[in-house]
Amino acid sequence: MMGDAPKVRPDPDATLAARDGAHLWHPYTQMLTRPAPIPIVRGEGVYLYTEDGRRLVDGTSSWWVNIHGHSHPVLNAALAAQAQQLEHVIFANCTHEPGVELAERLLEVLPSGLSRVFYSDNGSTAVEVALKMASQFWSNQGRERRTFITLHHAYHGDTVGAMSASEASLFTRPFTAMMFDVARAHPPYCYRCPVGLERSTCRVECLGDRGRPAGVPDGQWQQTLAIQLERHAGDVAAVLVEPMLQGAGGMIVWPADFLAGVRRLCDEHGVLMIADEVLTGFGRTGRMFACEHATVTPDIICLSKAVTGGYMPLGVTVATERIYEAFLSGDRSRTFFHGHSFTGNPLACALGIASLGLLRDSNAIAKVRQIERWLASGLAPLASHSSVGDIRVLGGVGIVELVSDKATRAAGGYLDDVGPRLTQAFLDRSLLIRPLGNVVYAMPPYVITEDETAWMTAQMRDAIVQVVGT
Ligand SMILES: Cc1ncc(COP(=O)(O)O)c(C=O)c1O
Repeated sequence: MMGDAPKVRPDPDATLAARDGAHLWHPYTQMLTRPAPIPIVRGEGVYLYTEDGRRLVDGTSSWWVNIHGHSHPVLNAALAAQAQQLEHVIFANCTHEPGVELAERLLEVLPSGLSRVFYSDNGSTAVEVALKMASQFWSNQGRERRTFITLHHAYHGDTVGAMSASEASLFTRPFTAMMFDVARAHPPYCYRCPVGLERSTCRVECLGDRGRPAGVPDGQWQQTLAIQLERHAGDVAAVLVEPMLQGAGGMIVWPADFLAGVRRLCDEHGVLMIADEVLTGFGRTGRMFACEHATVTPDIICLSKAVTGGYMPLGVTVATERIYEAFLSGDRSRTFFHGHSFTGNPLACALGIASLGLLRDSNAIAKVRQIERWLASGLAPLASHSSVGDIRVLGGVGIVELVSDKATRAAGGYLDDVGPRLTQAFLDRSLLIRPLGNVVYAMPPYVITEDETAWMTAQMRDAIVQVVGT
């Protein structure tokens, strides 16, 4: 009822955090017990500046989106110029220069074979679009297929389809009643190998197409990708994966052979492969796209986050001509009925073009490979730490998996209170990093220097020793 809520009377003398506390509700945040939010007033390069004059290193690229650093002059200029020209227009029956040019530029750098660009708003919608495209691809041909195969430890976003595709977890549990079923297969989580092998000697048996290694229980084996494809033969619309790096589900780094195997099995079984490169796209893994690690072209790729250099929300789903053609028909019911008010927003597209230019001009992919070396050497001393189970580095991402027992590899998971304790310890050292429970990682903007990376990894080592002991 109107009038029940207290009237808002902003206190001009209150801090940003106090005003925030009065009215806001933050994502992935338990509002009852959270510490006060960090009030950020400015960003520049890898640094964020707080209302009370502190300077923090943005150790996770502001939720994995920022690549060129904050407030980059080239991106600022591109945004300002586009705002003078056209800020937004409906994209159903209109088009515009930034929308077209971004598609052209993306197709120049994407794995060859991808040819049709569909815009949406963010990573979750890029995935929703891919799922709906794959489903309708089959139904438009009179071949209804109901099953999606996705991987354990997957995270694809927070809309209902993306949640359904993600691992059933703490994140999705309250919404189970809203979600649809998917079939799940093992990823190559080598530190916790699903078929009990060692990476140094295995032949990626976890794909399930090479014969069952001795001692693997039936229940485990049944969840390999090859077996799931056989079990659901004829009904699989697509296999959806985060290639090379499964992000929010635990920062799991893959051997490239697994990715090649996913493509091979999809081809053998005649099903579509969807690559969710929302996190991995635009250089993060040391290649422009993670699919390049195994030289595969998915049937559909999902992009977001760094596509605009981390400035504005934009989702991009790119399909092959084969997918696109299944929607061409004199029968208008075969249209792809999906769209958002802000589809193809010109400001976001202009930033996408400028960001691709910067990636090229700054030789960013080579820079990420340098960062990979710096992260690896900075984190290596932690290997002998009694609570460090695994250290993984891929491109611009350095990961430390903490365990409570090194022998059994037991760990506390996302709710492990080591996460918030480490967040605070990092903050005390002017480093903004938000661990995924017991999985601690750094993923800085690509403009970070060697000295800054050495400083950051030293803070990580220090904080880990302070919080979990030696
Ligand atoms: C691989 C992957 N897919 C999808 C998403 C969802 O993107 P968004 O948060 O923009 O909806 C994320 C977000 O972290 C992601 O890492």
